Amino acid sequence: MRKKIVAGNWKMNLSFHEAEALIHNLMDELEEAKPTAEVIICPSFPFIEMATDYMEEHLFKVGAQNISPFDSGAYTGEVSAAMLASMDVTHCILGHSERRKYFNEDDKMLTIKVNQALANKLIPIFCVGESLPERESGKHLEVVRRQVRHGLFHLDTDEFAKVIIAYEPVWAIGTGMTATPEQAKDMHSYIRTLIAERYGDEVAKATMVLYGGSCNSENALEIFSQEGVDGGLIGGASLKAEEFISICKQASIQDV
Ligand code: 13P
Repeated sequence: MRKKIVAGNWKMNLSFHEAEALIHNLMDELEEAKPTAEVIICPSFPFIEMATDYMEEHLFKVGAQNISPFDSGAYTGEVSAAMLASMDVTHCILGHSERRKYFNEDDKMLTIKVNQALANKLIPIFCVGESLPERESGKHLEVVRRQVRHGLFHLDTDEFAKVIIAYEPVWAIGTGMTATPEQAKDMHSYIRTLIAERYGDEVAKATMVLYGGSCNSENALEIFSQEGVDGGLIGGASLKAEEFISICKQASIQDV
């Protein structure tokens, strides 16, 4: 077994001082807990520099929540993958359901962003997941299949091998309605089947697939112990140092 990954998606939360306090608390707690899981924090853009300034590779890495589809130039308000890479940012969340829904990011746009990330050596954390009506009408596999294929399967094997996938059922995000361990296990296994069909068994086995959606210190251990669940993408619970570290520790129990 390999190290699990726990990534905190702070979304659009916290003031500068709150973000600073959270980073300090995280550093203290990580120093003490020394989780073996790989820890990534994904703050909003204004706090990225602070996070990378404090970053110690052995404690945590820093990811962005979005990147521009463009290289550089006259695109007011955009932040490029190259800018982030030049600040020691290592990861980038892409395809999050909130960006698909509120910012109309479709498969075509996400393909461009995935390419941008990889061209700038950022590791995409590529999110997929069905809505509640899609789950209830039995379309969840079809939806996730489309998202994985359209967003990622244009990549060659070497490029694809760098990508992390996060299965985040939309109905579980911020609702307290976590997927059951079986639902998570089944979807992770399905995602791996898709990868195996396209890139072969070795790549499918090696791909990190995280679970996200109302994951917290109460349910992390059970979810992370499911076969094929390589860690978590954590929203609300990543804004409290103690809670987040507890999740990181639970991911670490599953290592090796
Ligand atoms: P919650 O953990 O708040 O449900 O959010 C999950 C998520 O969207 C992480 O990207």
